[in-house]
Amino acid sequence: MIELVRVTKVFPNGVVALQDVNLFVDRGEFVFVVGPSGAGKSTLVKLLYREEVPTEGEVYVDGRDVARLRPGQVPPLRRQIGVVFQDFKLLPNKTAYDNVAFALEVIGASRREIRRRVPQALDLVGLRDRARAYPNQLSGGEQQRVALARAIVNNPWLLLADEPTGNLDPDTSWGIVRLLEEVNRRGTTVVMATHARHIVNAMQKRVIALRRGRVIRDEHHGRYVRDDDELSSLLEEMRAVVSP
Ligand SMILES: Nc1ncnc2c1ncn2[C@@H]1O[C@H](COP(=O)(O)OP(=O)(O)OP(=O)(O)O)[C@@H](O)[C@H]1O
Ligand SMILES: [Mg+2]
Repeated sequence: MIELVRVTKVFPNGVVALQDVNLFVDRGEFVFVVGPSGAGKSTLVKLLYREEVPTEGEVYVDGRDVARLRPGQVPPLRRQIGVVFQDFKLLPNKTAYDNVAFALEVIGASRREIRRRVPQALDLVGLRDRARAYPNQLSGGEQQRVALARAIVNNPWLLLADEPTGNLDPDTSWGIVRLLEEVNRRGTTVVMATHARHIVNAMQKRVIALRRGRVIRDEHHGRYVRDDDELSSLLEEMRAVVSP
């Protein structure tokens, strides 16, 4: 499970990215984190795998306050968590197979384990026949599927996805979301930060909406925006960005 207790994150430049956020996500949930650009979605995700630490408050991941981990305890935390990003972050000089295998090599898995698990993960994302391809020989959607295989090959209980469909067209995006749904169905908790309104609205999952670093809404079977009020304040904000 994940729990944030009165979490505030202020960056050194004074930007308040999250303010007094309280949140509980149980094991097995599928959660969307939505909100306008700058709302704090990525910061929230980064706190969960301890890429950032909170300025105030506690971030519990699987019962441990991740801000209080000793340096040696950070890698074991990250081993339990798979992460996918908007820009895939594959190693360009490794094949699809080797990108996935690398995630197991760094945690000291045996060669036998690697030979067993990598094809399974590539199978799940439908890319077994592209195992020998390099990232630049794969489409964006295929690269993201490799990244997803890499994220799950270690069987994490938590999968964090920060705008995983941000660089993909709508059809390809749906392919990725269906895979996340399948990973969730197999028991992994999924937290996905996204701008993909059509996906959020269609999926009817829990939606946590952030705005200026605060949770403004937390709904089961939620939508990207709740009502006309929220939509008009979003529009207002967008106008302010276009013509400040
Ligand atoms: N390392 C940093 N140093 C200073 N400010 C930061 C840093 N990272 C993020 N911020 C600021 O914190 C706020 C929240 O950023 P964050 O990246 O969490 O937003 P987001 O909701 O993910 O936005 P987007 O939808 O554009 O990805 C923004 O104002 C951003 O400029
Ligand atoms: Mg972001």
